Amino acid sequence: MFVTALAADAARIQACLDAVLARRAEIPLVQAMRYAVQGGKRLRGFLVMEGARLHGVPEAGAVMAAAAVEAMHAYSLVHDDLPAMDDDALRRGQPTVHVKWDEAVAVLAGDALQALAFEMLAEPVIGTADVRLALIAGMGRAAGAEGMVLGQALDIAAETAPMPLTLPEITALQAGKTGALIRWSAEAGAVMAGADATALGHYAAALGLAFQIADDILDVTGDAGKAGKRLGKDAEAGKATFVSLLGLDGARARAKALVDEAEAALGPYGAGADALRQCARFVIAREM
Ligand code: IPE
Ligand code: IPE
Ligand code: MG
Ligand code: MG
Ligand code: MG
Repeated sequence: MFVTALAADAARIQACLDAVLARRAEIPLVQAMRYAVQGGKRLRGFLVMEGARLHGVPEAGAVMAAAAVEAMHAYSLVHDDLPAMDDDALRRGQPTVHVKWDEAVAVLAGDALQALAFEMLAEPVIGTADVRLALIAGMGRAAGAEGMVLGQALDIAAETAPMPLTLPEITALQAGKTGALIRWSAEAGAVMAGADATALGHYAAALGLAFQIADDILDVTGDAGKAGKRLGKDAEAGKATFVSLLGLDGARARAKALVDEAEAALGPYGAGADALRQCARFVIAREM
């Protein structure tokens, strides 16, 4: 079953993060970093591991790269929850880092997790220097001012914009906010193998958009207990989302069409990519 496979990889990724952070356990800030990397679906990490399996990449390197993207993602969530951003008190069913500690700790733990992600990608277990450099450069683009941070900036700006965003604008925002790290994750296995990442890139573009549409749907229809975070925030902030623009049924139909597109993009891999197909279906069926 897909959720069993996801949980098995999540455990491997958690063990890797624990081992890396244990080396620095005497530093007080590391407590907050360890806290921030607990839990979550590990979807990005799973994409790395599955893409690596598909290309025969050894698991030890794949898990390090998977843990690196989860450290980067965890940093993005710690900062996303800060009072200056979404001002949220609950994440993954636990108090957010700035609530449990304070804002300075949350800023610094996020900074350190971001730096750690790059450090992990430089680990020799991942592959040759060329492979590591390609992953690091790609991660910089995906996480930074052309990627996730750009999406976050557009998202925050939209809260005070005079007009709600249009569908093309929301789509562009999503491509950065959630799409870029998901794409890096899905392509990483091919990059590690020195293989062509085009098919996985197409898969990830459709998957990332479906993922954000599902996040927007969950914000309206989800159960906060299951999601482990506050919901109803988008409507409260008067934000245009895929749901406000397409309606619930329209958003569900769009997400389903994108999942079909994602599955079709995996054609060249045949049945070997069935776990990635299941992953795409999970992304729109999930309750958390
Ligand atoms: C939540 O990401 C934030 C978005 C990018 C929409 P996930 O839904 O992947 O969060 P976790 O890692 O499972 O907690
Ligand atoms: C967060 O998006 C995206 C990133 C952290 C890059 P949201 O603000 O929509 O995520 P949730 O709903 O708080 O998880
Ligand atoms: Mg946000
Ligand atoms: Mg948020
Ligand atoms: Mg959201």
